[in-house]
Amino acid sequence: MNLCEKLDSAIRHVRAKSDLVPEISLVLGSGLGALADHIDGVAIPYAEIPHFPVSTAPGHAGRLLLGNLFGRRVVAMQGRVHLYEGYSPEEVVFPQRVMARMGAKTAVFTNAAGGIGKDLVVGDLVLIEDHLSLAMAAGLDPLRGTNEDGLGPRFVSMNKVYDPALLALAQSLFPSLRRSTYAHNVGPSFEPPALIRMFGAMGCHLVGMSTVPEVIAARHMGQRVLALSAVTNIAVPDLASDHVTSEAEVWESVKIIQPRLLALMRVLIPALPTTRGE
Ligand code: HPA
Repeated sequence: MNLCEKLDSAIRHVRAKSDLVPEISLVLGSGLGALADHIDGVAIPYAEIPHFPVSTAPGHAGRLLLGNLFGRRVVAMQGRVHLYEGYSPEEVVFPQRVMARMGAKTAVFTNAAGGIGKDLVVGDLVLIEDHLSLAMAAGLDPLRGTNEDGLGPRFVSMNKVYDPALLALAQSLFPSLRRSTYAHNVGPSFEPPALIRMFGAMGCHLVGMSTVPEVIAARHMGQRVLALSAVTNIAVPDLASDHVTSEAEVWESVKIIQPRLLALMRVLIPALPTTRGE
């Protein structure tokens, strides 16, 4: 079975539960799944969907949701899968490809991230405007291997991956939102101080273990991308620091961030451009 056939078999399963054609795909990252409560529609466990990888990470419910969110038709992942769970890059992006092939022209991503640099504080929401992934550069690119021309081109530009018009729209609605480069680390070990210093020196103010593979697949399939990081902890650049970055710290912070993210999405989702012909 080739990739298109696998995608179509997954989509057939989803369509049997709901015939909604989504305008927007949404990925709800670590502990950020509360938005799901506002999606009025059906929820399908990943385990039921053919070829879908199943989330094993804590805080990732592992359900695909289809329905209306703040007046727009959405398909949403309540929880994602990560490279660190042992999935291949192709497996990690399979759900994003399903959502794109179902018709979602705009892809919105959220994630929990460490903040790098003294300006950021826990609880901040930051727009991603570029990414730096040593893993993608070193061969974990999800587009590696045979290209299925029916899905997208062999070579995909990584310039303006984070749609400039969507970034401008988000900042026009929320002028205090800042933009930064997201540094991607496969994990699951948190970054050592030397890596944080390196990312910081390269102008990255966010670090996390997700999003980049899915964004690449979204662009391959022609989706317009908007991505937001929730700063759940401040990454430690200093070897002398006694701060211990932990999962508990991340979970504590998402509690503060959930209502902020919800308030933002309530305004942003309805304002996202509609695509003619739908
Ligand atoms: N590093 C990597 N991933 C993360 C972090 C971090 O500091 N915080 C939340 N996800």
